[in-house]
Amino acid sequence: MVIIIGCSGAKNIAKKMAARLKAQYSELEVEKFPDNELRVRFKINFYNKTVVLVQSFYENINDKVMEVLFAAYTARELKAKRVVLVAPYMAYMREDKRFESGESISARIMARLFQVFDKTYILEPHLHRFKELNNFFLNAEKISAAGKIAEYAKKLPVDVVVGPDSESEQWAGIVAQILKKKCIILKKQRLGHRNVKISEINESIKNKNALIIDDVISTGCTIVETAKKLRAKKAKKLFCIGIHGIFAENALQKLSKYVKIANIISTNSIPSKVSKIDVSDVIAKAIMAEK
Ligand code: R5P
Repeated sequence: MVIIIGCSGAKNIAKKMAARLKAQYSELEVEKFPDNELRVRFKINFYNKTVVLVQSFYENINDKVMEVLFAAYTARELKAKRVVLVAPYMAYMREDKRFESGESISARIMARLFQVFDKTYILEPHLHRFKELNNFFLNAEKISAAGKIAEYAKKLPVDVVVGPDSESEQWAGIVAQILKKKCIILKKQRLGHRNVKISEINESIKNKNALIIDDVISTGCTIVETAKKLRAKKAKKLFCIGIHGIFAENALQKLSKYVKIANIISTNSIPSKVSKIDVSDVIAKAIMAEK
């Protein structure tokens, strides 16, 4: 029997998953001591049952990491049968290379830390230099959101699907195929955290409605620069779907100058006012095999 535990960053989605799975649901109690240390407490007995912790790692990412580590070790001590992590959004996946000497490859370290779990499910982990999750994560499974995005995109008046960089092709390509629309994949050069350069668009997109698709929207620079290129080529309406809408540093506001706020969409892997695509069903389906 599975017990779903909503951690601080994913209560809503965890609750929805539990309802879909008809599983017991409980929230992890998380408290901060005056000195900022964390205390976590389970409010449910799970002796000999499978505990599924659901956590999205955004905003106070490091606290959220400590929270699930404390919870996982506690669940082991209290004799859960299996301890599983579901991460609708997993942080640190983009640090998958030692870009400068002496730098940490944080994605790999996260994977090592999470070996405390019997299994880790991640919705659309950012896979770039590690092509497969199991290249660096033990006992991990990727959950795809491509179908959910395509389902949503079908409701939009889209003429062309645009991926801002080569990595985005894995989602933009699938969505374009399902919508039977043209797909344009651009090239991106990251010059700094808040500075990206997007290649020119060679195709004619005059008066066409374009849908930009990417996995992560963080500072929003990638989408802003892509939108500028599309506007320069006289595209008509712009839409954008980001699977994980982090929207750091007022990114949503910045973005809304180029793409109408109503046309910016993300999944609820990270809750926000634009997280309109509910992915609790695909996640629930993926963990159905857990006993
Ligand atoms: C990186 O390769 C990702 O796919 C996204 O393009 C990136 O994280 C977006 O970041 P930002 O919104 O800060 O440009």
